[in-house]
Amino acid sequence: MSPSQPKTWSQRFESALHPAIAVFNASIGFDIALLEYDLTGSQAHARMLAKTGIISPEEAETLVNGLEHIRQEHRRGEFQPTLDDEDVHFAVEHRLVELVGEVGKKLHTARSRNDQVGTDTRLYLRDQVIALRDELRQWQRSLLTQAEQHVETLIPGYTHLQRAQPLSLAHHLLAYVEMAQRDWERLGDVLKRINISPLGCGALAGTTFPIDRHYTAELLGFDDLYRNSLDGVSDRDFAIEFACAASLILVHLSRLSEEIILWASEEFGFVTLNDSCATGSSIMPQKKNPDVPELVRGKTGRVFGHLQSLLVMMKGLPMAYNKDLQEDKEPLFDTVNTVRACLEAMTILLNEGIVFRPERLSAAVAADFSNATDVADYLAAKGVPFREAYNLVGQVVKTSLAAGKLLKDLTLEEWRSLHPAFDADIDDAISPQRVVAARNSFGGTGFEQVRAAIAHAHTRLATLD
Ligand code: ARG
Repeated sequence: MSPSQPKTWSQRFESALHPAIAVFNASIGFDIALLEYDLTGSQAHARMLAKTGIISPEEAETLVNGLEHIRQEHRRGEFQPTLDDEDVHFAVEHRLVELVGEVGKKLHTARSRNDQVGTDTRLYLRDQVIALRDELRQWQRSLLTQAEQHVETLIPGYTHLQRAQPLSLAHHLLAYVEMAQRDWERLGDVLKRINISPLGCGALAGTTFPIDRHYTAELLGFDDLYRNSLDGVSDRDFAIEFACAASLILVHLSRLSEEIILWASEEFGFVTLNDSCATGSSIMPQKKNPDVPELVRGKTGRVFGHLQSLLVMMKGLPMAYNKDLQEDKEPLFDTVNTVRACLEAMTILLNEGIVFRPERLSAAVAADFSNATDVADYLAAKGVPFREAYNLVGQVVKTSLAAGKLLKDLTLEEWRSLHPAFDADIDDAISPQRVVAARNSFGGTGFEQVRAAIAHAHTRLATLD
């Protein structure tokens, strides 16, 4: 196209864009990701134009077929828009006119790129969210499979990253199943607000043509329609909500990543990483690095950044469409791609990349004071006021630490000299297995509770699929 010849703009333009401004203005480099949705949306629009008598059925047929032809070209890798096309919507229209001639110019009747891009983005995100929810289900299954193998494997439980009370490893993993459940539900909720049609809102005010918005909404599988045309073309709440839901998914993945990184360290030694999911160092031959969880932790910040970008992009926009909104795409696409890639990598890591070391875990729980609460509970169950028991056990911990002993090393005489309520069953009461088994309150780490939680998680997976 010669630089003096404006391409798509009306006759009021006399010269073409400055080449650098053309580059600056274009979104074709990234909104090509919307191509299939643009074609589908345009086909629905063309059908509606015929149904309402705005164009003839034969014209609609030509448009729909031409659009389908472009889809095939794209799938064969033959559809190559150029910068001159500016964005995906113009790219399709230009190609359509090339393919079907003059009638191609009728496609844009009663439509604007503003309602068009809003439609495309929602169709794209709807597909992505559905796929993401499936991936969250896979993630939950991986966690559950590991949990089932480790109901009776114990792991130190921490608060403030200080040893607190021992746990069933399954209970620990099931905490992440619950987080993923809320993530899954949250995405389902966002989906309701994604699946609303802005098509037919026009540039901002609706259209003079007798269009049928309900028909296009139905053809495209939308559940509802925007009721206000200004809102329809300028709303990006749905994208922000999605970015927020995606950020929370990554908060959860990043927390587990941090734990796996710690567990894989020499200091913890709770897991080993398999070669398929770990990397080496270029200089230190002994090293095996947890790159997968580190990258997930690192990529999380990037997605938080996208949420922030979208929020800030919106906050000062007067009604209705403003070109700022073109800036929604890169953060949105990158959020989708990042969260999906992280989920996939973590699922693989959990399925085949990580091996728990029960011997190291049981050695860890046997060698600390994380059964101290249980001594206090033992006395309290025998009628000693809890605070009094707590103080007494504090004393015992202090003297044991000084003597280089653990609570399990105390003899019955020593226990009795501390309080007459101690009996021979104290040893059993403070063994790690008992300590965990005894926490049988609803939602607690007791094995019975954990087994029930696993069963419940399975039912939930089966019924909500
Ligand atoms: N490429 C544009 C975007 O992504 C399409 C809508 C353009 N609308 C307009 N009035 N300039 O937002």
